[in-house]
Amino acid sequence: MIVANWKCNGSKAMINEWTNNFLTNYVEMKKAFIGIAPPSIYIDSILDTKLSKLKEINIGSQDIDISSGARTGAISSEMILDFDCKFSIIGHSERRQFFNEKNDEIKQKILKIANKTLTILCVGETEEENKNDQTKDVLKRQLGVIKDIEFNDSLVVAYEPVWAIGTGTTPTPDKINEIHKFIKDVVQSFSDNSAIPMVLYGGSVNQDNAENFFKEESVDGALIGGASLDGRQFANIINIFNGINLK
Ligand code: PGA
Repeated sequence: MIVANWKCNGSKAMINEWTNNFLTNYVEMKKAFIGIAPPSIYIDSILDTKLSKLKEINIGSQDIDISSGARTGAISSEMILDFDCKFSIIGHSERRQFFNEKNDEIKQKILKIANKTLTILCVGETEEENKNDQTKDVLKRQLGVIKDIEFNDSLVVAYEPVWAIGTGTTPTPDKINEIHKFIKDVVQSFSDNSAIPMVLYGGSVNQDNAENFFKEESVDGALIGGASLDGRQFANIINIFNGINLK
């Protein structure tokens, strides 16, 4: 599973160029689930391109609001479901950092979409927490939001160390693998009925380092910010995930 998080980037012109670059580089395999989370205002523009003809491409949202109604600027869960969004990213560290989102709010959001569309729950420690050896405690606390939610197989977790996002620095592949295993164990410990979730790695993934992460057993894909803004590079990363390296 490879997901593009465009964050607050893009324009109608960018979408056209991106689509052309993506389609000339992507080798159609129908293997991996490919997700694109554009700014919500551009969801329709993407659905209007040739990308919508590829069944493996799924459009999703970068976030949802906890509610609907008198909440200026917000996008509700009902709206993203109305647009047939196949997933929503919840609890991204930028939401936690810049919008002051706390775990209880993140839980409310997950409850809005659980088992209606895919939840991609982002978790990750800060640089300081990492240095103080608190990574596993932090992750356990962040994962606690799903404790009493019964998911069929509609939960995906993205491990995104805050210090690796947009910095060009990443943990080593074997460290990432160890943390992914830990995440799967923690989620399983919450409920015997829950399926083991897919765990994506996110944080400075690009076409040059992706293969090293994908080789690891517990890495089920990637959530990609910066490198996903280039259609050519995003296609290359998917090709690598599908076992083809044309770079
Ligand atoms: P990055 O962002 O790939 O630019 O590091 C990842 C993310 O924030 O999901």
